[in-house]
Amino acid sequence: HLSSDRTNVDPAVIGEPISAAGVSIGLVPTMGSLHVGHLSLIQKARQENQLVVVSIFVNPLQFGPTEDFQQYPRTLEQDQALCEQAGVDVIFAPSAGEMGVGSRESGVESRELEHKRFPSGTSRTSEIPKTTQHSQLNAQNASLLLLTPYSSPTQVVPPEAMLSVLCGRSRVGHFQGVATIVTKLLNIVQPQRAYFGQKDAQQLTIIRRLVEDLNLPVAIVGCPIVREPSGLAYSSRNQYLTPEQKAQAAALYRGLSQAEQAFRAGERSVEALLKTVQAILEPVTAIVPEYIELVHPSTLEPLEMIEESGLLAIAGRLGSTRLIDNILLSSR
Ligand code: PAJ
Repeated sequence: HLSSDRTNVDPAVIGEPISAAGVSIGLVPTMGSLHVGHLSLIQKARQENQLVVVSIFVNPLQFGPTEDFQQYPRTLEQDQALCEQAGVDVIFAPSAGEMGVGSRESGVESRELEHKRFPSGTSRTSEIPKTTQHSQLNAQNASLLLLTPYSSPTQVVPPEAMLSVLCGRSRVGHFQGVATIVTKLLNIVQPQRAYFGQKDAQQLTIIRRLVEDLNLPVAIVGCPIVREPSGLAYSSRNQYLTPEQKAQAAALYRGLSQAEQAFRAGERSVEALLKTVQAILEPVTAIVPEYIELVHPSTLEPLEMIEESGLLAIAGRLGSTRLIDNILLSSR
């Protein structure tokens, strides 16, 4: 409510989500290797904001010691071209040093990464795209950073109940790493809106909760999953798959769709819905399921019966590639 000493506030700004600079900012956080899924978030941000910022940062905090941090595809030049085509205003592509984070087990990996980005004796200015000039300025100190092992930063810890299900069980520390980096990105960019995909449903739910619990002044916008014609959800990790594996991976969505049909036909028992998915996946022996679970979409609590809505989520391995997918079952 407005007190009398605020009468000098321009009425035009009251209720308008704008930044201190006087424009609305939309942030799309990514780890790069951009694909159609990412572009759908960017398009939505483009429609809703005056300024669109895409962050590209492969966040060491969210990778476990045996995960694919080193192999994760890094395609900055191609990403830059895609962002330009999509009308992005700013790409924020910091180094691990600039973000003040090392990998979880040691600072070594990110220091090596810094070496790769700024090899000694090369001209930094000529090698780095214009849009990352900001990170480049700070990188003048890269040689200093190389001598300084990163300490563990302060971290944001999501509620335990949201970490003990789905991906949280096998990816210990992952969502803490995500919550920490997203908080840092929100504080650095200070957007009015930030865009996240339903593809990573647990991540989206945890971020909504983080923003609510910590009173972060940003609106979180969830965006639907974009799929290939086969039904396979676009993912940067799909690049690891052979054509044969890609065809096999489509079974994940077939299983989810089959369960959705059963749900539409009135099935509300979680056990029965999970069996429907299992029946589709079983013949595809190349997929080794990690979990098939049905949880409440906003609390992530495991369900036995669906009352109004449920999040049906799958993770599985195809060779060494870990894939996830999900579908929202809602009677509304
Ligand atoms: P990344 O995997 O690059 O994904 C960036 C965003 O794109 C996420 O919000 C993700 O849900 C969304 N996305 C990916 N594939 C999608 C698809 N097929 N359809 C719709 N949206 C899709 O998620 C991360 O990066 C990181 O954890 C991050 C949030 C950037 C923090 O490091």
